[in-house]
Amino acid sequence: MHIYLHKNDSICTNFGLFAQNEFYLHKTFATVFHTIIHPQTLNGQKLQNNHFYLIVQQITVRIIHKVQKIITIIMVAVATLGSHCSLQVLKGAKDEGLKTILVCEKKREKLYKRFPFIDELIIVDSFKEVLDQKCQSILEQNNAVLIPHGTLIAQMSSEEIESIKTPVFGNKWILRWESDREMKEKLMREASLPMPAPISDPKDIDKMVIVKRQGAAGGKGYFMAASPEQYHTKREQLISEGVLSEDETLYIQEYAAGVLAYLQFFYSPLKEELEFFGVDQRHESDIEGLARIPAEQQLKLTKVPSFNVIGNSPLVLRESLLEQVYEMGENFVEASKRIVSPGMNGPFCIEGVYDENAQFKSFEFSARIVAGSNIYMDGSPYYSLLFNENMSMGKRIAREIKTAVQSNQLDKITT
Ligand SMILES: Nc1ncnc2c1ncn2[C@@H]1O[C@H](COP(=O)(O)OP(=O)(O)O)[C@@H](O)[C@H]1O
Ligand SMILES: [Mg+2]
Repeated sequence: MHIYLHKNDSICTNFGLFAQNEFYLHKTFATVFHTIIHPQTLNGQKLQNNHFYLIVQQITVRIIHKVQKIITIIMVAVATLGSHCSLQVLKGAKDEGLKTILVCEKKREKLYKRFPFIDELIIVDSFKEVLDQKCQSILEQNNAVLIPHGTLIAQMSSEEIESIKTPVFGNKWILRWESDREMKEKLMREASLPMPAPISDPKDIDKMVIVKRQGAAGGKGYFMAASPEQYHTKREQLISEGVLSEDETLYIQEYAAGVLAYLQFFYSPLKEELEFFGVDQRHESDIEGLARIPAEQQLKLTKVPSFNVIGNSPLVLRESLLEQVYEMGENFVEASKRIVSPGMNGPFCIEGVYDENAQFKSFEFSARIVAGSNIYMDGSPYYSLLFNENMSMGKRIAREIKTAVQSNQLDKITT
């Protein structure tokens, strides 16, 4: 592992020295103002209670506090793993004036060096090195906040994630509830989210179902079946192809047909407010390609189609659906507070399908930023209603960190 210093680092170092010399800063301000408007220099009289003198004193104090806040913010860094939505996250952090650190696999160094808003690269052979003392102490020295995303969940166990010493943005404990399909179902029930029925035994399959793997597997190896026989045949086929392993616990859920919608939210524990950010759609291969093949040819296919995410595109909802969207988001936030303290803080996503009656059924949630938010790097339609500036999810996260640092509440937004 080695650290690669990118641009802007000297600026941060300079500000570090600046902060260490805070004492001199106070002194300089005091001396300047003393010289300019010291009572004795005004008209040779003692004017300690002079109104003008007091106002200037207050202004001096305010300026010092402002400078201190800027220094504190500059001393905080945002770190994430190089994958998934890291570009959006670090660009947002840079736009907010925070230092940016990327934990980057050696093979992707060339790619990420292209982006000038990344201040520092920590090069690793595998993302698991983020757990090593060496990596964690670099993050600690930089006062870094780690932003978790799908890659962290896909590549590390819940125990590993929970053992990370670096402050994790949001709630690292809820990530276990995302990774384990049974726990996920329990939290969704607690939040009264309408769900497609789960099927606990393959022999009970009597309608179209989807069979899924644990964790954020990204849809690879998922398959559909309409009978126990189909389930066993396809499972065996995927095992023989090396896609699934023999002992893998699979999760079976009723297949919900309709328009897929991935609802993205942000909950601010500082403002105690839920924001609806946007909706995306996922393009999944090769299930999506099937629609381009005539039924006659489809029937001859022997390959089991997969749900591997390739990319995302934006979607806006009928306005009449928004009320229920907020309600589901709020129910989810409340349920999370009850079940897994400190609750669903930061970004999350409720994923599901609208049926022919515009009724939503949620097949799962993500308890952290989703890659679908990458489509709104310049701001989303719904955030343009809430903010008078371009606001990406990455920037929203950085804004929350900045506000927390300024008000000494970092503990409230990290775990
Ligand atoms: N119950 C369902 N009905 C219809 N499609 C589903 C259902 N569950 C999952 N899918 C499809 O499979 C994809 C992956 O499933 P998901 O539960 O989101 O797993 P992951 O954790 O891998 O994202 C979804 O994006 C969606 O296209
Ligand atoms: Mg999903």
